[in-house]
Parts: sequence; structure tokens; C-alpha cells
Amino acid sequence: MQQTLSIIKPDAVKKGVIGKIIDRFECNGLRIAAMKKLRLSKDDAAKFYEVHKDRPFFKDLVEFMSSGEVVVMVLEGENAVVKNRELMGATNPKEAAAGTIRADFADSIDANAVHGSDSDENAKIEIAFFFAKREIF
Ligand code: CMP
Repeated sequence: MQQTLSIIKPDAVKKGVIGKIIDRFECNGLRIAAMKKLRLSKDDAAKFYEVHKDRPFFKDLVEFMSSGEVVVMVLEGENAVVKNRELMGATNPKEAAAGTIRADFADSIDANAVHGSDSDENAKIEIAFFFAKREIF
């Protein structure tokens, strides 16, 4: 069993599709091991996405991720990192395969509905950013 971090981003929370997105995970073998709703400060968002700090989209990314509430989850299942990324679809919703979360719920590469860890190593770091061990079941 593997764990990965998922974030339902402000665009999807504002659209009221939290339940529809969680349904995709639960129907595809990913169990919710932890979950909370919160609003990131700009500092939180900058720290979480520090790996992108030199990319041209960093400022917009931090603005967007701190613009509204998000839902953060630890998803658990076999090959959870890869499975979550398959369910999300490509980062740019215009390139996302039909039936993926981003194809169905995202508007743009910035407002792209969900984030998911890209490796087992980063999943551990991202999970520890949001959750204490005692909050994960
Ligand atoms: P996410 O998976 O949360 O990781 C970083 C985010 O930066 C990404 O989703 C996109 O929402 C955003 N982003 C904006 N422009 C780009 C880009 N050119 N390449 C990758 N990510 C981008």
C-alpha cells in the first residue's frame, strides 16, 4: 500500500465538485486516510510549491492557491501515486484525456482542479506538510 497527497484546488471547491472528485478516488481503489479543508496563506502556498520558485508561473500559482479554500487528503491504495495521477489527467486540462478529473472539472493550467504528488518521495514530504501522523488512519 502506498500513500499520496491530493489537493482539491480553490476552483473546484468554488464549483461545488468536492464530492464528485472524491467519488473518482473512492470508486478507483483509493481510500481516504486523512482529510481536511483549509485556506492556505501566501506563505504556506509558497512553501508548499517551493520546488517551482524559479518557474515563471510561480507567483500566479501562489496567488491562486491562496485565493480560496482547498481540501487536502491523504489517499491510500496500491500504486497510489501513479493511480492518482492517472485519475487527474494531464496538468493542462486541454491535454487531459477524456474522463479524467481535469478534463471534466478544470478550466485552465492554473485553475486545474487538483494537485497530486509526483513521486513516492515527494508524497511523504507533502503529506508531512499538512498532516501529523496521528491524523492519518
Ligand atoms: P500542480 O500539479 O499543482 O503543480 C504545480 C502547478 O503549477 C500545476 O499543477 C499547475 O496548476 C501550475 N502551472 C501553471 N503553469 C504551469 C506550467 N507551464 N507547467 C506546469 N505547471 C504549471
